[in-house]
Amino acid sequence: MNESFKKKILCIGAGYVGGPTMAMIAHKCPQYKVTVVDINPDRINEWNSENLPIYEPGLYEIVKSSRGKNLFFHTDVKKGIQESDIIFVSVNTPTKTFGVGAGMAADLQYWEKTARQILECSQSPKIIVEKSTLPVKTALAMERILSSADSGIHFEVLSNPEFLAEGTAVKDLENPDRVLIGSSLTESGLKARDELVEIYENWVPRKQIITSNIWSSELSKLVANAFLAQRISSINAISDLCEKTDADVSEVANAIGMDSRIGDRFLKASVGFGGSCFKKDILNLVYLCRNYGLTEVADYWESVVRINEYQKKRFVLNMLKAMFNTLADKKICLLGFAFKADTGDTRETPALYIANKLLEENAKLVISDPKALKNAKKDLKEAKGDISYVEDPYQAAKGCHAIAILTEWALYTELDYRKIYDSMEKPAFLFDGRNIVSHQEIYEIGFNVYPIGKPALKHF
Ligand SMILES: NC(=O)c1ccc[n+]([C@@H]2O[C@H](COP(=O)([O-])OP(=O)(O)OC[C@H]3O[C@@H](n4cnc5c(N)ncnc54)[C@H](O)[C@@H]3O)[C@@H](O)[C@H]2O)c1
Repeated sequence: MNESFKKKILCIGAGYVGGPTMAMIAHKCPQYKVTVVDINPDRINEWNSENLPIYEPGLYEIVKSSRGKNLFFHTDVKKGIQESDIIFVSVNTPTKTFGVGAGMAADLQYWEKTARQILECSQSPKIIVEKSTLPVKTALAMERILSSADSGIHFEVLSNPEFLAEGTAVKDLENPDRVLIGSSLTESGLKARDELVEIYENWVPRKQIITSNIWSSELSKLVANAFLAQRISSINAISDLCEKTDADVSEVANAIGMDSRIGDRFLKASVGFGGSCFKKDILNLVYLCRNYGLTEVADYWESVVRINEYQKKRFVLNMLKAMFNTLADKKICLLGFAFKADTGDTRETPALYIANKLLEENAKLVISDPKALKNAKKDLKEAKGDISYVEDPYQAAKGCHAIAILTEWALYTELDYRKIYDSMEKPAFLFDGRNIVSHQEIYEIGFNVYPIGKPALKHF
């Protein structure tokens, strides 16, 4: 093995962020040795196999190009820390489920354990890079932990939040809108910042690598997610009004999105946003605001999450109402379980909420998804009721009373809906939670069609 690498980089946490970001650094910087460690041996084994633990288009190819050369996955966290010059921390920071701040604040236990382990194992100075999304001022806590042992070793903490979106992670990493690096403005802070800039400069144009003070960087990640989610909740709130007024939310979104001050991204009405980040990061922001006594600001951002919960709830209520106020013993096919297309991730997926609510109504569920069935089975392990998992959408819809499209997989736009209709119970219903199919065509086949934010197309 070539041990004459320019730098040794470690990433602690081999998840949706740690794995792809490090694979990209290794792919673009053959002069650096990149090691990714995790306490979960199954995850590490999968990173070392042909079946990576996460699905991302194009990811396997870049992992394969560097794995065993300058990209390594293993479970020896201690050795990884000792060997490295730069440590990215990319552990999970979920919402706290206990004690003060339960349901709102970030649970920092994994992150703090990592900080303590870095301190315990280090024998030389290191740059520590916060990759996880963290509350503003976390770097201060990290610095305090790292300097608590008086070891004489200097640790410089940087913030480098990750803006990739699941489903397009490789594309986003290869060609990011910007890379943000926050540092303290001391001599050593700026020096460490420049070392990180140098890594990204291997493939990201310098003008897209922006630097800031460390608190701005930490806060920017929470604010970016809050703004993105806010756009979804804004258009979803309007979708409700459209359904009452015979306006069409796609037409409204098109009309407002062409205003260059608004722009057309993230204006698609849907069954609601999901994913591991939006909800938790907004709640984290809300918690911070409350902590600083900013009640009005906290209430404002909390409403983004409230509208999202409302959107999921009203989707189920619409289904119930449309299907004659009873779903008991009716077979319903959920097309899609992932929180978005091109990922197998089901964290905070609206489909889970909807599945549970339909089961409460004693509906029978057939769940279909090209990549997320393994996770769906785990998510619904404790659920009571009649649930089956069928990957083939034609088989899944057979004998069903209704279909609900819950993930915008491209394949659902290309299905032969006539064939599906012929195999279903009548009257057949289609609830398009993503507005991705041609509603008029499907209505003409015979379906009763319920889009989001548009008039329903009914045969009665
Ligand atoms: N998923 C995304 O799209 C996304 C995007 C941007 C930022 N983020 C942020 O990045 C962070 C990581 O998110 P993720 O989706 O990759 O989470 P994840 O749960 O997929 O991965 C985290 C990994 O860290 C490991 N881990 C936890 N404690 C550890 C320890 N002490 N030592 C070694 N490994 C440890 C876990 O086993 C897990 O494999 C979060 O803060 C998240 O908010 C996520």
